[in-house]
Amino acid sequence: VAPLKVGIAGLGTVGAEVVRLIETQARVLAGRSGRGIRVVAVTARSKAKKRGVDLRGVEWARDPMALATHPEVDCFVELMGGAGDPALSAVEAALNAGKSVVTANKALLAKHGLKLAKAAEKHGGALNFEAAVGAAIPVIKTLREGLAGTGIDRVYGILNGTCNYILTRMEQEGLSFAECLKDAQRLGYAEADPSFDVDGHDTAQKLAILASLAFGTKVAQSAVYVEGISSIAPEDLRAAADLGYRVKLLGVAVRTTKGIEQRVHPTMVPKSSSIAQVMGVTNAVTIDGEGIPPITLVGPGAGGAATASAVVADIADVARGIRANPFGRPISQLRDTKKAPMERH
Ligand code: NDP
Ligand code: HSE
Repeated sequence: VAPLKVGIAGLGTVGAEVVRLIETQARVLAGRSGRGIRVVAVTARSKAKKRGVDLRGVEWARDPMALATHPEVDCFVELMGGAGDPALSAVEAALNAGKSVVTANKALLAKHGLKLAKAAEKHGGALNFEAAVGAAIPVIKTLREGLAGTGIDRVYGILNGTCNYILTRMEQEGLSFAECLKDAQRLGYAEADPSFDVDGHDTAQKLAILASLAFGTKVAQSAVYVEGISSIAPEDLRAAADLGYRVKLLGVAVRTTKGIEQRVHPTMVPKSSSIAQVMGVTNAVTIDGEGIPPITLVGPGAGGAATASAVVADIADVARGIRANPFGRPISQLRDTKKAPMERH
């Protein structure tokens, strides 16, 4: 069987790790996929920048659009970020050409996920985005496939590694918000514009994607109430600790009689609760399904290696010919998102 030919746009924290993982895991991936996976072309802003990975024999595409429509590329992997161009046009072009797309770009999916899923549906390519929520945690597959037969009442958790890392270090080491954010950026956890992390928008984008999968509704980031952590100081965390609480940035999506309530805000959780034990860059997602006890998935929520792990698993699915409905059901079956007023705070 011919190998799956992959083109990767973006060779930063995640993209470079994806190139490395495809190379180091080549034998395992070929065994699991039934065919090889080969990176045939890449692109980024700077061709000259050192990436720490072996790109000999790999073509450098002129720009993301040239890569997305490259005749040799079967699977376009978008790891540049951003809800607009070049990511949007390139992903759309690849899907319209019948290619499969793998992306970790929650900003793009939260804003244009429906349009992109329509293009995938129309032209037959896969649109896989496991890495977009919870990095290495297989939460998309859990909601889309594992719990396909279960009604979901609520999905909630810690969905941003940068914020949880900052809150953990501020509480444990008394460091300032700015110092912790700088470290999160150095470690490759933060978004290119870290205000997306600390102002809660990254969590809102992820929550909107999870809510769509959980409730069969159209992705609607605008339906999410958002409040971030940037005004929290070490003294606030100490005051919460004195009362027996920790502060966590939570994303919560609940089915109510009036619609889907979606909210992101710092929350005081009792120190004895399991969510309070989730520290550092770790994420945790709890799913309350009808008739079953809650399921909680915990794992690394950001960083190159953790994110690349999910991206490569998505590429392996394309190699195996697995093609899921991106948001769990045909687009025509997704309901409009009825925004419920917030009741619980
Ligand atoms: P980086 O900023 O580290 O890398 C972005 C890459 O995209 C760089 O190689 C950059 O090129 C390239 N790029 C940016 N703009 C363009 C452009 N206009 N044309 C061509 N190439 C471009 O980002 P990350 O790797 O951290 O993130 C990538 C994606 O993965 C984002 O969508 C992010 O939200 C998502 N993600 C990230 C996680 C993480 O922990 N970092 C976790 C989960 C998802 P150059 O290097 O030359 O500047
Ligand atoms: N900036 C994001 C975070 C990356 O810190 O969670 C993972 O999506």
